[in-house]
Amino acid sequence: MVDDRMNVMRIVCLSFASLALLFTVMLIGTYVDASHQGLSCPAWPLCPNGFNFPPKKYLFEEIHRIVAVITAGVVFATAGYAAKKSGIMRKTAITAGIIVAVQIVLGMFVVNTKLNALLVATHLSTGVFLFALALITFVSSYRLINTKP
Ligand code: HEM
Repeated sequence: MVDDRMNVMRIVCLSFASLALLFTVMLIGTYVDASHQGLSCPAWPLCPNGFNFPPKKYLFEEIHRIVAVITAGVVFATAGYAAKKSGIMRKTAITAGIIVAVQIVLGMFVVNTKLNALLVATHLSTGVFLFALALITFVSSYRLINTKP
């Protein structure tokens, strides 16, 4: 029973962290788009600076990628813990795990096609969909805290 509560608490914390990270990565992505820096880093998966500190030219584009990878890790961890539970929370967390992987591949195509309009639009909508999934996971796991065992 204590293990079960701990598991729910982990899902609450991880899904909240996913929400915060998704918000951040979407904010940076929109900034990159609005300031026309989408093509500032033409390489994939790393920018030309490799693992060194990026120059100002593509600083935000590189931060967008780094935060995206960290976000994916947290979304996967949420899915891992939620997979042991049942109900809507399990479904949304696992779906988010799959969609975040798709989103990273979409990001690669956005760069490789030099900002194909349809792909950029799909990348934006998928980000919104991911945020919705993380929000449902958070709300449904949070509600479990107060349910009597
Ligand atoms: C969790 C993963 C990710 C999320 C949630 C995400 C979300 C977003 C969002 C919301 C935008 C703004 C789109 C717009 O305003 O039209 C954006 C832009 C962009 N993203 Fe991502 N992104 C993710 C991962 C990646 C990755 C791994 C790459 C790989 C390079 C990438 C490349 C880009 C680029 C180049 C833009 C700018 C597009 C433009 O200038 O029109 N994204 N992203």
